[in-house]
Amino acid sequence: GSGGHVTDYDFSFEGPFGTYDRNQLQRGLQVFTEVCAACHGLEHVAFRTLADPNGPELPEDQMRAYAEQFEIWDPAIMDYRTAASPDHYPGSQFTGAPDLSLMAKARVGFSGPYGLGINQLINGIGGPEYIASFLTGFTGEEDVQAGTLFYENEAFGGWVSMAPVLFDDMVEFADGTPATEEQVAKDVAAFLMWTAEPKLVERKRAGFIGVLFLSVLTVLLYLANKQLWAPIK
Ligand code: HEM
Repeated sequence: GSGGHVTDYDFSFEGPFGTYDRNQLQRGLQVFTEVCAACHGLEHVAFRTLADPNGPELPEDQMRAYAEQFEIWDPAIMDYRTAASPDHYPGSQFTGAPDLSLMAKARVGFSGPYGLGINQLINGIGGPEYIASFLTGFTGEEDVQAGTLFYENEAFGGWVSMAPVLFDDMVEFADGTPATEEQVAKDVAAFLMWTAEPKLVERKRAGFIGVLFLSVLTVLLYLANKQLWAPIK
């Protein structure tokens, strides 16, 4: 789909100093597990990273117990077995459902005007905004095309074979956040941004320290240059 309508939702991880909101990532993890995992995989994500800093930060014991809910294919024993913390999530369980590990970086929310990319400069790439808009963007129109049921979606910009899956109060959040459809969509979108970019916070910090360092170096080099040339000028 293209040319669909994407809402510019606010996320805590936007801007040069943005960070992930741990509670939001935990809520999004819950939504992914209870709703999306029935069809979609996350095969680039290792369970152990759910305990990493600047992620959902599950306590170690909870992360291990979480991993044990999943059955994964182990080529070493040519059989399925219970997953453990070093394993990755299984792949997609439903034919045609794409793996969601990198989806927040594979879709754009904003573009233009006239191919200049100014909207992206101002609003960001918009991957998580696209995902949240996609999940809430179903119009209710359905159509059978070549024997397959399709659903109209405003963010997708046309007909998609995924059915609407979210509605108000379909999950219950432990932190008491009201589980409106929009909230659930934003939370799972934030979680999928983390799966696509688990080192976002570290990257922003390293970038800031780099800029700070180069600024100081610029001043020092300027002063050194002045002093070196002082006797000649
Ligand atoms: C496609 C997210 C639940 C089946 C997609 C896409 C996203 C997504 C972002 C890609 C759309 C695009 O190409 O731009 C999610 C999330 C879910 C969820 C976050 C949970 C909240 C489900 C469930 C099913 C499902 C439960 C199966 C019953 C599919 C299929 C596609 C798809 C078949 C491919 C659609 C197409 O290309 O026509 N999903 N999904 N999804 N999803 Fe889901």
